[in-house]
Amino acid sequence: MRQDHIISAKHLAREDIEAVLDRASAIADDPAAYSERHAGTLLGLMFYEPSTRTKMSFSAAMKRLGGDIVDMGPVEYSSVQKGESLADTVRVVEGYADALVLRHPSEGSAKMATEFVDVPLINAGDGAGQHPTQTLLDLYTIRENAGLDDLTIGIMGDLKYGRTVHSLAYALTNFDASQHFISPESLKLPRNVRYDLHKAGSSIKEHTQLDEILPSLDVLYVTRIQKERFPDENEYREVAGEYQIDTDTLAAASDDLTVMHPLPRVDEIEHDVDQTDHATYFQQAHNGVPVRMALLDLLLGGDQ
Ligand code: NCD
Repeated sequence: MRQDHIISAKHLAREDIEAVLDRASAIADDPAAYSERHAGTLLGLMFYEPSTRTKMSFSAAMKRLGGDIVDMGPVEYSSVQKGESLADTVRVVEGYADALVLRHPSEGSAKMATEFVDVPLINAGDGAGQHPTQTLLDLYTIRENAGLDDLTIGIMGDLKYGRTVHSLAYALTNFDASQHFISPESLKLPRNVRYDLHKAGSSIKEHTQLDEILPSLDVLYVTRIQKERFPDENEYREVAGEYQIDTDTLAAASDDLTVMHPLPRVDEIEHDVDQTDHATYFQQAHNGVPVRMALLDLLLGGDQ
């Protein structure tokens, strides 16, 4: 890994991505070979926002590599409540752990935190910004199910506030992918992200209707409307419940369509889809463990 910290998918080169995915495949094939590899290593977890998958799969990954975790715990019981700054907290916690995982509501917070620490810091979501490790497990899932070459992907839902969307879109510029973005007008990709994608030479198209594009897709990546990021609850209500899919919607899709979702879902994917061969989101969530094991292994010097 040529990076000290993992902050944005914008900085992930194809060779770094492939190194992680290849290592994740090797780990998935023979997890026992890695079970003592990082014995004694401690991973510090600092989650200032709710998390189930990211936090638990990082914990599982570190433990399955032979290491352990130290967890700041719920933010309301930490010294953040006493007014401690993020800069001070990361400076302290780096003394307790060999690497840090940070989730925080402010965009740019993970990058800022790297100014204060020497141990590797992994961004587990910074507001509506980036979520690069979700992207690595998304890419792993795409590679396993549809392949990463010559991919036609539809990314649907909250493209404005969805950090998993921003990270995935950046990472896909490394591959020969046609990216279709489907959302209401008010939740289109942020201008800076669209600009970066164009600059990277990526083929992107924006749509307001899924049916325009559904039959040609290899992958449909559905996302939750990020209620917690809306400055005004009324704005959320205007778009809530739009862009839901069910088995009727998918009748027009290719038999091979892979349906993904970073989860948690609210009502974007009806439960009848779970029974179909399209449904890949639970497998996707499970892939978080081998992929995060691979990333930790490479970041912590497992190349040797
Ligand atoms: C995502 C997130 O936190 O950005 N969740 C996750 O990590 N799998 C998606 C979401 O919350 O909608």
